[in-house]
Amino acid sequence: MKRKTRVGLITSGGDCQGLNAAIRGIGKTLLHYVDNVELFGMYDGYRGLVDGDYKFMEDGDFSGILTEGGTILGTSRQRYVPGKMIVDDDGNDLMPAMLDTYTRLNLDCLVVMGGNGTQKSAKLLMDAGMNVITLPKTIDNDIWGTDTTFGFQSAVDIASNVIDYIHSTASSHSRVFLVEAMGRDAGWLTLHAGIASGADIILIPEIPYDIDKIVEAIEQRKKRGRNFSIIAVAEGAVSTTDAVLTEEERRAAKETMGHSTISYQLASQIEKRTGQETRVTIPGHYQRGGPPCPYDRVLATQFGTAAAKLIMERQYGRMVAVQNGQIVSITLEDAASRTKFLPVDHPLITSARDVGVSFGD
Ligand code: F6P
Repeated sequence: MKRKTRVGLITSGGDCQGLNAAIRGIGKTLLHYVDNVELFGMYDGYRGLVDGDYKFMEDGDFSGILTEGGTILGTSRQRYVPGKMIVDDDGNDLMPAMLDTYTRLNLDCLVVMGGNGTQKSAKLLMDAGMNVITLPKTIDNDIWGTDTTFGFQSAVDIASNVIDYIHSTASSHSRVFLVEAMGRDAGWLTLHAGIASGADIILIPEIPYDIDKIVEAIEQRKKRGRNFSIIAVAEGAVSTTDAVLTEEERRAAKETMGHSTISYQLASQIEKRTGQETRVTIPGHYQRGGPPCPYDRVLATQFGTAAAKLIMERQYGRMVAVQNGQIVSITLEDAASRTKFLPVDHPLITSARDVGVSFGD
């Protein structure tokens, strides 16, 4: 009798929209084309692989989940020692336990859906001898080697909607508003949402801001009769002063800044300098919640089906990606090698500048 194909599915790191659509894409495609396939859904990311805590997934598990937010498998963030180990809270190496589950279940391959950190840790699994295929998911859109990631567009929709709604109240009260978007150290989400909803000032980590320039842009608007200003701020935005600090110095500066996030610090500086009432709105994890937008449903389905095809062709050690509108795959080594930050000469930044957006520089 033909040997079974056994595949483990893992969703790891921060969740985002489209994970279930991707799970569905993988499961349905494999069940459609491969006789004798067995699918194991690991619970809570790598934790399920460490503890051998999994669900044997059947046809029905892949139905009715296309539009559902979150992940039906659960997720968790692993502690990762850069390039070396995945460890528990006491610093113990988790690889032997993961290898044990992989071997015990006689898996042919693991499909790992995750962001930047997950791509890096999936590479460690590969180096330890496991067959791995990954999918790029994150609202941050910062994974190297793919033009976009699923979850990103849904988060852009939400963040844009927040900025759209802030416009009317900002205008009624003649206030400055800062809307802080997620995205870690990359400005993709803030840039897209800022452009989509007509923010006047966009602050991203890749372009350090000068508070004088921000104040100048607000005053200029006032001179032109605009009684309010909207600033889209990336959570990782930095001032020109902080940009030259080492990582350690920056961490220390953050601890002493006396504000919970960069937006509150900026709001206090702006209010003092302009005399204009200034408020902060932070949508936070709301940006990662709820159903995927149709674009992400399509993208995650395409990524899922492509991962299934890689499994059928036994092409392991690869991340599915989209490049110039085509679904491709690249080596996991390449995908995990670096972070995709926004190039400062990106055409979108140029377009934003063309319509008068200030980047505080
Ligand atoms: O990487 C996705 C992300 O949502 C970032 O944008 C954000 O900085 C971080 O995760 C938040 O992490 P957590 O969900 O662990 O608070």
